[in-house]
Amino acid sequence: MNELGLSNLSDYQDYLKEHPGEWQVLDSFCRITISRFYRDQAVFDALRSTLLPSSAAQAMSAGSSELRCWSAGCCSGEEAYTLQILWKTCVLPVLRQDLLLHIIATDADDAVLARAQQGWYSKSSIKDLPGALIQQAFTRSGDLYTIKKIFTESITFVQQDIREQLPDGPFHLILCRNFVFTYFAEALQRELLEKMIARLATGGILVIGSHESIPQGTTMIVPCGSIRGIYKKA
Ligand SMILES: C[S@@+](CC[C@H](N)C(=O)[O-])C[C@H]1O[C@@H](n2cnc3c(N)ncnc32)[C@H](O)[C@@H]1O
Repeated sequence: MNELGLSNLSDYQDYLKEHPGEWQVLDSFCRITISRFYRDQAVFDALRSTLLPSSAAQAMSAGSSELRCWSAGCCSGEEAYTLQILWKTCVLPVLRQDLLLHIIATDADDAVLARAQQGWYSKSSIKDLPGALIQQAFTRSGDLYTIKKIFTESITFVQQDIREQLPDGPFHLILCRNFVFTYFAEALQRELLEKMIARLATGGILVIGSHESIPQGTTMIVPCGSIRGIYKKA
C-alpha cells in the first residue's frame, strides 16, 4: 500500500478491482519461504531407515529403473537435496543395485528456485543435518556451504503454482510439507489431496508436515508407521 501511495485497505481493494494484475503481487507476499535441511528429524530418519528402502524394493520388484519423488513447495531445495543426500550416502550403498532417485521439485516462487539452483546455504539451513552428512555433502567457504554437484544430479526444479498445475505421476513418494495443509482453505486441500493421491503409485507414500493433518474422511490413503504425517496409498 505504501508503494502504491494508498492509505487504507478499502483503497487497496478498489485498486485490486481496477488492476487485476495486482493479485499476483499480493499473492507473492503471502508465501512463507522457510525451510531447512533434515527439517523434522524423525521423518527423515524414517525415510532413511525404512521408507526409501521399502519404496526402492517395491520399485525394483515392479521392474522400474528409477524411484520417482515429488517435493511440492520445495522452497530453496532443502528437502529435495536432503532426500538425495540420504539416498546416495545411506540407502543406495546398502541396496547394491543401480536405482536412480529422480526428484521433481516444484515451487511457485522464482526467487527460491533460483537459490535452489545455486545451492549455497548458511549454517542455519543445515544445522539439523547430522554432522557426518554435512561433511560428505557440502564444501565450505567461510560462512557458505555449497552442496556438492553429485547431490544435485537427478533433481529437476520446476516453477509451478500447485493451484494451477501439478507434475505428472506416478510417484513412489510425494513430500508436501508445511504448505498445502497449513496455508490453503479446506476445499482446496481436499481438491489437491485427491490430485496427489491420483499421482501416487499403488503403495506410494505421502508425507505431510508433522504438525499438519489431512482433511477428514479420506480413505484412499492410510497412516503408515508410528510417525505422524506419513501415509501410504492403499
Ligand atoms: C513454508 S515453505 C515449506 C518448504 C518445505 N516443504 C519444508 O517443509 O521445509 C512453503 C513453500 O511453498 C511455496 N508455495 C506457496 N504457495 C505455493 C503455490 N501456490 N504453489 C507452489 N508453491 C507454493 C512457497 O514458495 C514456499 O517455498
